[in-house]
This record gives sequence, C-alpha cells and structure tokens, in this order.
Amino acid sequence: MGEGICDYTKFSVDLRRHMWMAGVETELRRLIWQIAVTGKYISAKIHESNRKLAGFQNIYGEDQLSLDRSADEILKNQLQFSGFVREYASEEQAQVVKIGTGKEKYFITADPLDGSSLVDSNLSMGTIIGIHHEKVFGEGGKTMVAALYITYGPLITMVYSAGKGAHEFVLNREGEYVLSHENIRLKERGSIYSLGGLRRDWLPEHLRYVEYLEAEGYKLRYSGGFVPDINQVLIKNGGIFMYPALKKEPKGKLRLLFELQPMAFIMEQAGGCASNGVEDILSLKVEDLGQRCPIYIGSRFEVDKAKEYLQGKN
Ligand code: F6P
Ligand code: MN
Repeated sequence: MGEGICDYTKFSVDLRRHMWMAGVETELRRLIWQIAVTGKYISAKIHESNRKLAGFQNIYGEDQLSLDRSADEILKNQLQFSGFVREYASEEQAQVVKIGTGKEKYFITADPLDGSSLVDSNLSMGTIIGIHHEKVFGEGGKTMVAALYITYGPLITMVYSAGKGAHEFVLNREGEYVLSHENIRLKERGSIYSLGGLRRDWLPEHLRYVEYLEAEGYKLRYSGGFVPDINQVLIKNGGIFMYPALKKEPKGKLRLLFELQPMAFIMEQAGGCASNGVEDILSLKVEDLGQRCPIYIGSRFEVDKAKEYLQGKN
C-alpha cells in the first residue's frame, strides 16, 4: 500500500465532487467524506498491528486495545469533532453514546471493524456505517438517510449510498478516494452464493434452498468477513449472501442495526433486495442494539427464491 494512505491531508476531490453532483446535502456530504477519511486511520491501525499486538500485550507488557476497540475509538473521536453527529451507536458500545451537543442532525450506527478475527490470516475486513436522522431505533428503513462501508483489503475501497444509487471509490496511492464504479447495478439473477453457519445447524427449509442453489450450479464464495462477502455480490453484480436462522440460534448471527440494515440500504440502491425470509430487512423494527436477524441479501431472483423455500412454497 502506498505512502499516501497515511497522508490525511488529502481532500478526495473526486468523492466530494461526486456527492455534490448527485445533490447530496452539504452536511451529509461532509460527514460521508469525514468517515471515508477515518477509514485511512483505521487502516493504518490494522497495518501497525500484528497478531502479537492485536488484543494482547505489547512488548512493554502494556495492555493493548483490541483492533475492533481501537477502530471504535478512532471513529467515535473523529465523529465527535465533526460537528454533525448527535449520537453514536456502535457494536463496541453497550449503549448509544451522546457525542454531540444535542442539536446535530445525524445519528450514526457503526460496526467499526467487521471481521477483525480475520486479521491474522490476512483476509479483508471492513467498517459498516448507517447514517440516520431523528434516531437509530425504530424502523431502520424510515430513519436511514445514507449508508456506507469501507473494505480493508489489497485495496481500500468505499461504497456509499445517500439514497441516489450506490457508488464505489478506491483509495489510490496518493491517498485520494477515486470513483471506480458509479451506479452499481445488480443483475436480476447472479451465479455466486455465500453463506454462514454449520450445515448440521440449518433448518430443513434453508437446507433445501441451498441444495437448490447447488443443483443450479451457483459457486460458493465465502470469506467469513461480512463486508468483503457482501462487496463480492455487489461488485460481481449479483448473487446472494445469507446467514440463516440456526436450530439453536433462531435469529442467526448478524446484527440488524449495525450490519444488516446499512447493507440492505446499499443493496436496494443497487437494485437488489434483502429479507429475513419473510419481511424486508429495512422494514424490521430495531428494538435493542444487539438484535440479530437471519439474512438473505443480493439479487432479486435469489432472494425471492429463498423466500419461497423458507415459507414452504417449494
Ligand atoms: O460480524 C460477524 C462476522 O464476523 C461477519 O463478518 C461474518 O459474516 C460472520 O461473522 C462469520 O460468521 P461464521 O464464522 O459463523 O461464518
Ligand atoms: Mn461485524
């Protein structure tokens, strides 16, 4: 990765111009830009860490924050100084944190470092952000005005949607976010599938659906990192990601507020959809911060087919 990544003074003219041309409101534009820039700090933290330092003690015997907690601190501090954020809800915090004066317009949800356990195997990780007005609890789809995610992989990329399509930017060697995919569109039907949970724990309806995908020749693509796995469906323009209900975990594993609703927002903006098997992910009411939910997300055909199987229509 280039030296430019640590140059925080870059302005990402391309990203800011894109949002301006798309008519994204000024404060929201600044906020999205600021979060994208924060991704550079988080990525620097990932680089400086190694498997000895992540979550353990450093060479001086001092406790180190785990990577996810460091990412959370970085994000919270940056947002605190943005002047645009009233409250911050994060997977790393037990409660919503008031970081503004009470007058700011936006409420943020964050999974600061998704897939952090993949750091030692050098797989991609990510940051997932939901931007809400009014509040973070309630019907996610109604309060969310924008969502974005950052991938920390061979390249750092950022996909955002402010309700006017979904767009990808790549951080170049000069430290600028450069537009790489404008208006990402999913095909009606894709050819890859990605899924979590152990086969022996799946419910019969889900198992039958997976057997259908296998019989149809879908290719399995699963890294175990939600962000890169979703990114693959999006950038390959189709397919499905799922983390189902499990026999002992009927709500599955992934979190509605921090992980699923922001990704559902982006996926819908790219012409795809997201369901728990019955209802749209964005129509679900968030009642507590850690709420989990099964997910089927991606191209319309595959998600509709999943719903048929899960509702016993197949
Ligand atoms: O945040 C939870 C997470 O790490 C996701 O990034 C990923 O999709 C999932 O868990 C992987 O779960 P499993 O290890 O059960 O496949
Ligand atoms: Mn996560």
